[in-house]
This record gives sequence, C-alpha cells and structure tokens, in this order.
Amino acid sequence: MAKEFSAVELIIAKREKQELTTEQIDWLVHNYTTGVIADEQMSAMTMAILLNGMNRREIKDLTMAMIASGERLDFSSLPMPTADKHSTGGVGDKITLMVAPLVAVFGVAVPQLSGRGLGHTGGTLDKMEAIPGWQANLSNQQMLEQLRDVGAVVCAAGSGLAPADKKLYALRDVTGTVEAIPLIASSIMSKKIAEGTASLVLDVKVGSGAFMKSLDRARELAQVLTQLGADAGVKTSALLTDMSTPLGNKVGNSLEVEEAVEVLAGGGAKDLVEITVALATEMLRLSGKTDIDVASALADGRAMDKWVQMISAQGGDPKAELPKAKHEQVVYATESGILNKLDALAVGTASWRLGAGRARKEDPVQFGAGVILHAKRGDQVTKGEPLLTLFTDEENRFARALEALDGGIEIGVTAKDQAALILDRIQS
Ligand code: URA
Repeated sequence: MAKEFSAVELIIAKREKQELTTEQIDWLVHNYTTGVIADEQMSAMTMAILLNGMNRREIKDLTMAMIASGERLDFSSLPMPTADKHSTGGVGDKITLMVAPLVAVFGVAVPQLSGRGLGHTGGTLDKMEAIPGWQANLSNQQMLEQLRDVGAVVCAAGSGLAPADKKLYALRDVTGTVEAIPLIASSIMSKKIAEGTASLVLDVKVGSGAFMKSLDRARELAQVLTQLGADAGVKTSALLTDMSTPLGNKVGNSLEVEEAVEVLAGGGAKDLVEITVALATEMLRLSGKTDIDVASALADGRAMDKWVQMISAQGGDPKAELPKAKHEQVVYATESGILNKLDALAVGTASWRLGAGRARKEDPVQFGAGVILHAKRGDQVTKGEPLLTLFTDEENRFARALEALDGGIEIGVTAKDQAALILDRIQS
C-alpha cells in the first residue's frame, strides 16, 4: 500500500527549501491528476518550486511521475527510425511545419504531437488548422499508419498522454508559474518521453520573445532537458537559438502557413531556412544519418511533395486558399536609418491582441489575424515606408495591438551588433 502524505506538509517543505522524496513527488502528481489535491494547493506548490527550485533528482522524479500519469506510445513496429523536435516557444516560429516533411524525405519518421498557443507565443495546431479541412485529432493507430505511409504527422497530443502535464500547464499559465526550469523541463520531457520518439532535438529559445530571457538560463534549461532525455534512453540534443526578434516575416496562423509553404517551395526568409536546415540536420544526425545535403530537398521540391502528402492524409486541402483577415492597418517608419530593434515580445503580443492567439484556453483564434514584417532587424528603412502591416477581423483590436508595439521598434543612425541566430548546441 503506497504511503500517504499531506499536501499542506509537502507545500511547507518546499516553501522551506527542503528536498521532496521520490515517494512524495509520485504521491503529489498522482493525487493532483486524480483530483484529490486541489488546484489552490498545487498553485502554492508550483509557486514554491518556482521560488526555491528543485535538484536534478527531484526534476527527474517529477518527469517520471508525469509520464506515469498516462499512456506511453510505442513506435518500435515502424520500419524506420523516429525523430522529433520541440521548441520552447517563440514568435513567428513555424519551423515544425517545414522540418517534419523535410526530415521525412530522408527516411526518418517524425511524430509531432503539438499544442495550441497560449499567450504571445503561437501554437503549431492553430497554424495547421488554418488549412481548410485539416484534422488535428488522430487515434494512435491512425498516427502510426500515417507515419508508416507518409513519414510525418503533426497532430494533437491525445488526452491519454501525460494528463498531469495538461492540468499543470493550464494551472501554471494562470498562476504566474510558467517560467520555472523544473516545471518547464518536466512538462516538455514528460510529453516527449511518453510519445516514444527515439531521438529528440530541442530548440531552446533565448530572448525577449522566449520564456528564457538570458543565455545562461537557456543553457541551464537545455542541460536539464538533454539530461532527462539521456536518462530515459532518448537521444537528445538542444540548439539554443535567438528569439529577441520574430522568425521570418510573418506572424499569425494563416500567414505562417503561407510562409512555411514559401520555404518548402525553395524560397523564404534566410533565418527560417537556416534554423530549419540546422534542426533537420541535427535530427538526422541523431538518427545516424550524416553527410546529407538537407537543403537540396527544399530546392528540388521533395520536401513540398511530403508536405502535400502530410496535409492530404489529414483531410486538408494543400491548394485551398487560406482564411484572410477582414481589416488591415499599416505601420510606417517614423524616420530613416537602421532598424536596430524589432522586438519579438512586442510583435508577438500585437499579433495575439489582433486575434491570432487566445486569452483563455477555450477561446477561438482568428486564422487571418497577425502581422507582416516589411523589414527585418538590421535592415535599412526609409521614413514613410511601410514597416509592418497588422491584420484582424475586428477593427477595434488595432489600438491595443499598436500599444503593444510601443517601445518595441527602434531606428538608429548606426547599426547595433546583433546576436547570432544559432547561439550554442548542447548534448548530454
Ligand atoms: N512548452 C511546454 O510544453 N511546457 C512548458 O512548460 C513550456 C513550453
């Protein structure tokens, strides 16, 4: 018979900076998932963890307990290796849409269980659902069949996978406890380990638009994540990438699908292509495939062919016109010079307020809402020329979106040094 504990005593122990034992963590997660521990008690516990931290053993126990709260998928019957990627969340981050078909071209299956956006960062499922007819919900069997037939699947994580994370993530989002390394690491890795991928590449975002604002904190998160992967037998590595300015030129659901298709057609923004190729190369390397000219599959249409198969297999029409917003408003450059700052958080928040994101889990998103960037950070701009175009279905949203951009744009006389796009690679 498992030992019983008191939730209040465990909260007080963490509040007093004590270590929780494996048994205590198992008890906590199990009883929170089954509704015995109340949300207000778990809120206090997550805040105590955010303030006082957890050591590596506690983080591993928390991750394992969250995995044990639900089912584990098994891809071992597939005739090819599996590799997945996960981003810690950013603005304009549509990399999954290109990476999944691109990696599949080279005979590595990509099982992408994705989520919806909350707050200023976009969610992959919201973007994919902009494609008319596309279905996010697949059974485990349908997912396995698509992986075997097409080699790539992007779908919603079923309710059976790490249910403890689903409850905890929703709670953290409304209690100011998202940005805790033990909680982020266990949240991400419980889902990825339960999903059963053989290899995993993490895109750990750093900067204003990311949960980790400094390189040191991002590096610490990457080390914890890769160690959790290694402990669970998943080949895991992490790239640290810049998120101080948006990725690509388009932010918002339909807009990002449009831009992903540009990259799959062999074009697209330089930063998007660079990260897509780097992450795909890393996923293939972990799967034992080296010396591959990944970019060639973007240039010669093989990645696009896979994309078409991947969308069609889930009922989507890859040729259909994407939903468009009803209203648009242009933001003009107020002076001439170098665009030294185009802040990721400012643009992400503007896009969210325009309707591309949701304030509560149950809210619908506007597929056409978002922002087009006419200039990227570091570009020369001229007074009076369009800098951004904002899109929404509801005109009254423009004012709050413009407020979000306040202080987020800076034009200078001389160029400022800018961070590299790929900042580091970590492997445990
Ligand atoms: N992504 C997740 O899945 N969980 C977090 O806590 C943060 C980013």
